[in-house]
Amino acid sequence: MPTIVFVSPKGGAGKTTSALILAEQLARKTDVTVIDADPNHPIKTWAAGQKSLNRLQVTTDADEENMIERIEEAASQTPFVIVDLEGTAAKIVLLAISQADLVIIPTQGSQLDSKQAARALHVIKQQEKMSRRPVPYGVLLTRTSPIIRTRTMTHINTAFVEAGINVFETSLNEREAFRAMFSFGAPLADLDPREVSNLDKAIANAEAFAAEVIATLRKSRESLKTEEVEA
Ligand SMILES: Nc1ncnc2c1ncn2[C@@H]1O[C@H](COP(=O)(O)OP(=O)(O)OP(=O)(O)O)[C@@H](O)[C@H]1O
Ligand SMILES: [Mg+2]
Repeated sequence: MPTIVFVSPKGGAGKTTSALILAEQLARKTDVTVIDADPNHPIKTWAAGQKSLNRLQVTTDADEENMIERIEEAASQTPFVIVDLEGTAAKIVLLAISQADLVIIPTQGSQLDSKQAARALHVIKQQEKMSRRPVPYGVLLTRTSPIIRTRTMTHINTAFVEAGINVFETSLNEREAFRAMFSFGAPLADLDPREVSNLDKAIANAEAFAAEVIATLRKSRESLKTEEVEA
């Protein structure tokens, strides 16, 4: 049932890549619908070439008029719904956030990117006020160096944490494998380690990310239950 929405007003922050990494991991064990609201439909194109991943469905007809209904329909059909949006702060983003059990804000490690992440957080806060319910979210650092933690990255991470902003412990490293998923049109596990360097590390990174998402969803469900009991 959980709906996970990828949001970032900044184009190229890593929404589509991160959404596909998560969708593909989850679809190894359960049914997943991806609502591909990126106008270029990159996830639909990717999925069209898949023979083995029959637990992953992709819909592309969500727009401002029907986003809420599309999410409701998908949530009634598959245990997980993942929404990939285009990089804007348009109304469709607010609508998708209104249905989210978890919002993921992919962010690259620059000062400019973290400003954009702050804009996304503002949209989440607005939505919380509108719906009078907490919207669980996490900032996901993307394209991080697997070898060194840059000063800028450390600085950004510290600034988020000091501001009380949730940041996923797992970051998605800059990996050729994450690009190769799209260029070869294949799931990570079907890529050829002779053609794609550090494939095993990319897979371990994807698994850690999916596990943290599941743990975060579980935690927020438990804290919602506690709030209901206390109310
Ligand atoms: N972890 C990663 N490792 C390597 N390359 C990455 C990673 N994440 C994103 N990229 C690359 O960065 C570029 C932008 O990523 P992506 O398309 O996922 O961003 P987006 O937020 O969906 O962009 P848009 O706002 O245009 O939809 C792509 O070329 C993608 O291959
Ligand atoms: Mg995209």
